[in-house]
Amino acid sequence: MEEKIKNIEAAAVEAVKNAANLQALDEIRVKYLGKKGELTAILRGMKDVSAEDKPKIGKFVNDARAVIENEIQVKNAALKESALEDRLQNEKIDITLPGRAPKVGHFHPITLTLNHIKKIFMNMGFSVEEGPEIEEDYFNFELLNLPKDHPARDMQDSFYITDEILMRTQTSPVQARTMKAHKNNEPIRMIAPGRVYRRDDYDATHSPMFTQVEGLVIDKGITFADLKGTLEVALSEIFEKKVGVRFRPSFFPFTEPSTEVDISCVMCGGKGCRVCKGTGYLEILGAGMVHPKVLEMNGYNYKKVSGFAFGLGVERIAMLKYGIDDLRLFYDNDVRFLNAF
Ligand code: PHE
Repeated sequence: MEEKIKNIEAAAVEAVKNAANLQALDEIRVKYLGKKGELTAILRGMKDVSAEDKPKIGKFVNDARAVIENEIQVKNAALKESALEDRLQNEKIDITLPGRAPKVGHFHPITLTLNHIKKIFMNMGFSVEEGPEIEEDYFNFELLNLPKDHPARDMQDSFYITDEILMRTQTSPVQARTMKAHKNNEPIRMIAPGRVYRRDDYDATHSPMFTQVEGLVIDKGITFADLKGTLEVALSEIFEKKVGVRFRPSFFPFTEPSTEVDISCVMCGGKGCRVCKGTGYLEILGAGMVHPKVLEMNGYNYKKVSGFAFGLGVERIAMLKYGIDDLRLFYDNDVRFLNAF
């Protein structure tokens, strides 16, 4: 019996020594020390051993068990160490490799143009106002002297949500909202940038959604000369070159007189080219003196103050500034286009 135990011990120690990894080591532990292990089997067989041999054999088994356990513990530590060593070797990070730069986004060309325009007017003392894109008919039309049956509504084929609510067709309702927010003929000098919506084609020069900047100035003694001077300075700053300005008579229900404003062609300087279709001028915005009725409807006394207003299309300006010939490029989200800015 003693010999058998010694043999088991020797075989176990040998197996432990050769264990290739932690899993193999665990299998060895089960094989020799587990409930169904070889040493346990001997202890189970003790009932057949004589009473005087029992303590002796018990001691042998326990000694062998202790030796094997100790070997396993030592091996376990060694295997763990070498496993860690392996990982350290294999998972080493080569810090000399060049880094991968994160891709950084940037402003959309329309936003860039808008920010530029905002800055120019803010430097001239204008505040920046906002209004909702889902607007009441009342603000979009009614308060701008366009009652329900007014034929000029047809010029702005509209997206109605209910009879009284629509996607705003222009930024002009912010004129009404701003006037209504003031009392006692308080002076106003504001711009209102934002998106507007009209039922329209989608082609190189049209889109059912586009961006406008509205302008409104109200004070004592504001004249057409103020409108002209302001636009001349602002447009020259926007195009970063001195541009000539031409006023053509026009009609808007909320301004009187009304005007269409052209600038000398930024491509050819007025000589005539493809972009200006040989005319030397580019149509750039609508403007006029605020209609007395509009002042009155929005709480201003037209006998005490006067004002001018204008509305310009941001896409049109961005196209001219950057030499882009198709409006849709702004909305296609093609990164090859966007990366050019
Ligand atoms: N709201 C007009 C349009 O969208 C432009 C405009 C604004 C004209 C202010 C005059 C004064 O066509």
